[in-house]
Amino acid sequence: MRLFFAVLPSESVKQEFMRTIEQLKQCSKCGNFTKVENLHLTLVFLGQVSNPKTAIQAMKQVKNPAFFLEFNGIGKFKRDRGDIWWAGVKENPALHALHQNLAMQLRGKGFSLENRPYKPHLTLGREILPERDKWEIPAFPPVCMRVTELHLMKSERIAGKLVYTSIAVQPLEQ
Ligand code: 2AM
Repeated sequence: MRLFFAVLPSESVKQEFMRTIEQLKQCSKCGNFTKVENLHLTLVFLGQVSNPKTAIQAMKQVKNPAFFLEFNGIGKFKRDRGDIWWAGVKENPALHALHQNLAMQLRGKGFSLENRPYKPHLTLGREILPERDKWEIPAFPPVCMRVTELHLMKSERIAGKLVYTSIAVQPLEQ
């Protein structure tokens, strides 16, 4: 199964993102926009894993404190087939500490992870091509949430649809 760890936005934060996605849609020729139930902030991507047991054991070692997270703007990764647009996170040492600790626990259990620097972002849409005359980067009011848990997520295609399911949760220290 394909697995990754993520922070899931609260319902109110999801509604803010859906407003921004709607604005992106209005000024795009085409795009693969994130569905409300799929909104997430990736902490660590694992990829294909035969059994989630060891990943769950690693996750249970993570005892970081709960913290506040602020999304403070939108940006893009340029791609030939259309850009990836995302909401970015205001500099956040607690988030980076959580990422580091989780990655360290996973490596300790034998997972080999990507060495790329962690660039926290919440994907709003992929393969987005702007409609030339209408294109306008949506205004994005800062959005704040408290992170109290992390999730181990399963990613699968069901009838052609991308479905993410939380299969384990680890609360952060309160
Ligand atoms: P993305 O949103 O920037 O595409 C599930 O695939 C999640 O893991 C997505 O949020 C995806 O990020 C992230 N991810 C990180 N590294 C990945 C990789 N090498 N392949 C696929 N997804 C990856």
